[in-house]
Amino acid sequence: MKRHQDKVIVVTGAGRGLGRAYAQRLASEGARIAICEIDARAGAAVAEDLRNNSANAIFIETDVASKEGTEFMAARVLEKWGQIDGLVTNAGLANSVGGQTYDEITVPQWDRIMEVNVRGTWLTCRAVAPHMQKLKKGSIVTVSSDTAHWGSPRLLHYVTSKGAVEAFTRAMARELGPDGIRVNCIAPGLLNNEATAGVPQVKREWNIQNRAIQREGSPEDIAGLVSFLLSDEASFITGQLIVANGGLVFH
Ligand SMILES: NC(=O)c1ccc[n+]([C@@H]2O[C@H](COP(=O)([O-])OP(=O)(O)OC[C@H]3O[C@@H](n4cnc5c(N)ncnc54)[C@H](O)[C@@H]3O)[C@@H](O)[C@H]2O)c1
Repeated sequence: MKRHQDKVIVVTGAGRGLGRAYAQRLASEGARIAICEIDARAGAAVAEDLRNNSANAIFIETDVASKEGTEFMAARVLEKWGQIDGLVTNAGLANSVGGQTYDEITVPQWDRIMEVNVRGTWLTCRAVAPHMQKLKKGSIVTVSSDTAHWGSPRLLHYVTSKGAVEAFTRAMARELGPDGIRVNCIAPGLLNNEATAGVPQVKREWNIQNRAIQREGSPEDIAGLVSFLLSDEASFITGQLIVANGGLVFH
C-alpha cells in the first residue's frame, strides 16, 4: 500500500514550480490530487499530465485571495471525492518580486503580496478545515521561506508575508489540534525553478557557498518533506516550522 493511498490532497499553486513537484510526488504515492491554480492553462496541463500517468487528478481554477473562489474550490473537491485529507497552501507570489528597497515598494504591491500570501493561506484553510474537522483528521502544510529568518533585504513585503504565515501556522495548529488536525509550516531556501530564474547569479552563488550542503536546491528536495508532514508518520508533529535550505540558516 502506498503512503498516501486514496487520500484526497489539495495543492494550491500547483501549475508549476514547487506546487507541481508536490502534486507529482503525492500522486505517485497514491493520493487523489486537486490542482488549485489561478493560471488555468498551467493548472489544467499539470492535472492532465498526472492523469496520463495513471493518477487521479482534477484541476480547479482558483484565486486563493478570494473567499468565494476558495469556498467554490473546497465544494468542488467534496462533490468529486467527498472528503479532504490533506492541504498544501503553496500558492504564493514568490522571490521574483524582489529588488526594491523598503521605500520603493508601492502600497498596491505590498497589498497584493499580503492578499495572496497571507489572506490566501487563511482563506484556503478557512474553506478546507471545516471539512477536516467533521472527519476529525487531516494535515495542513503552509509555506514560508528562509528569507523570513535571515531578513533578506529588498524583499520586505514578501519577507513580512512569510513571517505572518509562520505565526498563522502556530495559532491554527492550536485551533485545529483538538479535532485531530495537524498544521505545520515549511520554509524552503532559494531553489532552482521558474520563479527564481531572475535571481542574480551572484545571489545564487552566495546562497550555495554559505550552505552546509553546498549545492543548488530543487523542488524535488522539498517534496519529500511535504509528503512526510502530510503522512501519519508525522502524527505527533504540529505547529512546527521545518526549514529546508541546505543549512543556510539554522532554526
Ligand atoms: N522557489 C523558491 O526558491 C522558494 C523558496 C522559498 C519559498 N518558496 C515558496 O514556495 C511557494 C511556491 O513557490 P514557486 O517558486 O513554486 O513559485 P511559482 O511562481 O513558480 O509558483 C507559484 C504558483 O502559484 C500560482 N498562484 C499565484 N497567485 C495565485 C493565486 N492568487 N491563486 C492561486 N494560485 C496562484 C502561480 O500561478 C504559480 O503557478 C511560494 O509560496 C513561495 O513563496 C519558494
